[in-house]
Amino acid sequence: MEKKIAVLPGDGIGKEIVAGAIEVLKVVAEEYNHQFIFEYGRLGGEAIDVDGTPLPQATVDLCKDSDAILLGAVGGPKWDQNTPALRPEAGLLAIRKELGLFANLRPVQAISSLTDASTLKKEVIDGVDLMIVRELTGGIYFGSPRERREENGQRMVVDTLSYTNEEIERIIRKAFELAMIRNKKVTSVDKANVLESSRVWREIANEVAKDFPEVELEHMLVDNAAMQLIRAPKQFDVMVTENMFGDILSDEASMLTGSLGMLSSASLSANGPGLYEPAHGSAPDIAGQNKANPLATILSTAMMLKYSFNLIEEGNVIEEAVNRVLEKGYRTADISEENTKLTSTTEMVEQVINEIKEISKAK
Ligand code: NAD
Ligand code: IPM
Ligand code: MN
Repeated sequence: MEKKIAVLPGDGIGKEIVAGAIEVLKVVAEEYNHQFIFEYGRLGGEAIDVDGTPLPQATVDLCKDSDAILLGAVGGPKWDQNTPALRPEAGLLAIRKELGLFANLRPVQAISSLTDASTLKKEVIDGVDLMIVRELTGGIYFGSPRERREENGQRMVVDTLSYTNEEIERIIRKAFELAMIRNKKVTSVDKANVLESSRVWREIANEVAKDFPEVELEHMLVDNAAMQLIRAPKQFDVMVTENMFGDILSDEASMLTGSLGMLSSASLSANGPGLYEPAHGSAPDIAGQNKANPLATILSTAMMLKYSFNLIEEGNVIEEAVNRVLEKGYRTADISEENTKLTSTTEMVEQVINEIKEISKAK
């Protein structure tokens, strides 16, 4: 199979983890006789510095002309004081919008050899397997007006949370479709006791549910959901929610896996290329030190192989290789504990590659 992959490393650890993930994809291509063609584009802070904009047109064109996109992370202190349109994050939001990537899937799976790395109790997280489905191109991230102004000597600010029924329906439908191939339960997370947008969200969830009689739908207020994720995470199968709620809940849920550095994601549109990226950011505090955990990005490439290329076996091989490496005790600093082997980014990548070769040799 021949596929063209747009690669947007971004800023900070983005460059380190993407370099590792590309090595992994190259080995998969070699072992399983595929051709992956990688073409690089700039996004975020680096693009601001070189092109004067966080999302150059060349990057949009490259992405649209690719079969899938691999993204690292954007942002850093260097650009934090920039005007809103010249922030790295604006480029990320713009590429999501431009490509219609409305469905952000963030799988949260406890890996048994890692349950001790979590700050939570082993019995709480053992066996956790849930999927956060985050609406990604609407809601409070994109509503207008967004403004600040002076009024009577006060700083007035406005952010707007807006949705159309179509935007809500398609993301909820996605959640139900995923539930059908998982454990047939959808938890729709909202703030319907306060927000009008949430009341309409709830209405639409009830309507969509009628098309999926086998799936159980429950509604949960977002503050309670945040607590339940820590109290009893095994109650969840698919959680579907508004853009910002999903952003917050997914970082929280990452701790069920042991680290934010383990959480992969896929951002999907109705019919264009999917974008695959770790849920975490550019981690300026550890950038350039060969310390970052590359596994979230490597696991994102497994999602790419499965969701965009239908290469199920190859995706499974990457996941299995990651499991084996963790079982052998290799740990980047974010997941290290006593009696484990402290491992750099590049060593971790090498270990994963070795396991992939072993698995493919044995087949
Ligand atoms: P962050 O996710 O970058 O880091 C939060 C904490 O987790 C840090 O202590 C970091 O060292 C750690 N961490 C994150 N990923 C890790 C990994 N792979 N391995 C080991 N440790 C890891 O969030 P932040 O510090 O709030 O934000 C930093 C910058 O990243 C900001 O500019 C923010 O806007 C940006 N950001 C970008 C994305 C993205 O591109 N998708 C996502 C989140 C944040
Ligand atoms: C994420 C990030 C982004 C978001 C930021 C960097 C705009 O936190 O991908 O989760 O909030 O969507
Ligand atoms: Mn986030």
